[in-house]
Amino acid sequence: MPQTKFLLDESEIPTHWYNVVADMPNPPTPPLGPDGKPIGPEALTAIFPMSLIEQEVSAERWIAIPEPVREALNMYRPSPLIRAHRLEAALGTPARIYYKNESVSPAGSHKVNTAIPQAYFNQQAGIKRIATETGAGQWGSAMSLAGQMFGIEVRIFMVRVSYDQKPFRRSMMETWGGQVFASPSMETQTGRAILAKDPNNQGSLGMAISEAVEEAASRPDTNYALGSVLNHVLLHQTIIGLEAKKQFAKAGDYPDMVFAPCGGGSNFGGVAFPFFADKAAGKNVRLVAVEPTSCPTLTKGTYAYDFGDTAGFTPLMKMYTLGHDFMPPGIHAGGLRYHGDSPLVSQLYHEGLIEAVAVPQLATFEAGVTFARAEGIIPAPESNHAIRACIDEALRCKQTGEKKTLFFNLSGHGHFDMASYDRYFAGQLEDFNYPEEAIQASLAKLPQVA
Ligand SMILES: Cc1ncc(COP(=O)(O)O)c(C=O)c1O
Repeated sequence: MPQTKFLLDESEIPTHWYNVVADMPNPPTPPLGPDGKPIGPEALTAIFPMSLIEQEVSAERWIAIPEPVREALNMYRPSPLIRAHRLEAALGTPARIYYKNESVSPAGSHKVNTAIPQAYFNQQAGIKRIATETGAGQWGSAMSLAGQMFGIEVRIFMVRVSYDQKPFRRSMMETWGGQVFASPSMETQTGRAILAKDPNNQGSLGMAISEAVEEAASRPDTNYALGSVLNHVLLHQTIIGLEAKKQFAKAGDYPDMVFAPCGGGSNFGGVAFPFFADKAAGKNVRLVAVEPTSCPTLTKGTYAYDFGDTAGFTPLMKMYTLGHDFMPPGIHAGGLRYHGDSPLVSQLYHEGLIEAVAVPQLATFEAGVTFARAEGIIPAPESNHAIRACIDEALRCKQTGEKKTLFFNLSGHGHFDMASYDRYFAGQLEDFNYPEEAIQASLAKLPQVA
């Protein structure tokens, strides 16, 4: 019987995170303050504990994972690496397809991999409350769970469109003790100002971040936690790729191509960066970030300094951006509706070291259904983006006869996204045209940096 699952023992959970900065050809671009000058670590102490700020600016290749964090992660890690024999057969491809199943976390996605260390480091710093945002609801669920594990109260600003589409994500967050507000909300000045102009505003990740940062900055007992984009978040996620490399060694195989959905870049960085270390050492491996055509940050955005949020509370970060007030269409992959991208992912893309493709919504659901019917697991709409790109490559291999090894990150399951699947089956989902005018209007307002 051909082997399907490549498993690790709990003792094989990595002891260190991998920091890609050590292998980048150029140092990362610094974040800038409102005066256009690089900010020091002290500028972030109002909303982050020093331990996370140190990780944010570190150039060390390996950063130790504290034992209490490894112990908390072993609730669901190591996650399995699966050889998708059934999907290969369904596609009739000579390619070998593998996926890392991050849907096995209690909250249903990779987001718990960073929620746990963020809760731990905040608890160690004496923080009692965390304010955060959530797009799809996956990050808010992960943070509620981790807050519960480490005795921290969690307040979540959930993008209105997801709040309405996914009521049970809210129930889940509340079950773990989180408090959830539809964003824009009446809880913050930012939210009230947006609602005064537009009472039916559907929200965006940029707005929800502004609300959470505003709350964290205004209370000494409250810090902010971000589920993506920042260097320390991608660092925590490298546990995915590090485990995968051990599992590929057990399988006696190695990927030619690695695919991951890309919103703010955390699961892409998490799965791809440990393979980038091999690429930097001369190995031939292609790393592909997959994004929606309706929010095409890497493939159609501008590489420039921009704010991470709508209101402009965050430092300026150099990244691919569609403009911080760009309002992405209401696609069902809520976690990919972000105007910017991780500065590390952006820099590697700018330097031609990683690749990106954009795929339309309907094709992603078609791929997700093909995957579910072959492999059983119903994927999150975000994950469907990576599955689409991987299937496209597998079908190219079918034409050329190439026996490539393809690997994608199944970043989460779609059990709370069944209303989106229903709409797909009812023929009610649409492809949004590339929102060129809205993007150009938003890019025209990029902050001017000397
Ligand atoms: C299941 C899932 N995959 C992917 C993403 C995209 O985020 P990131 O690019 O940070 O991995 C999200 C974000 O919410 C998500 O919930």
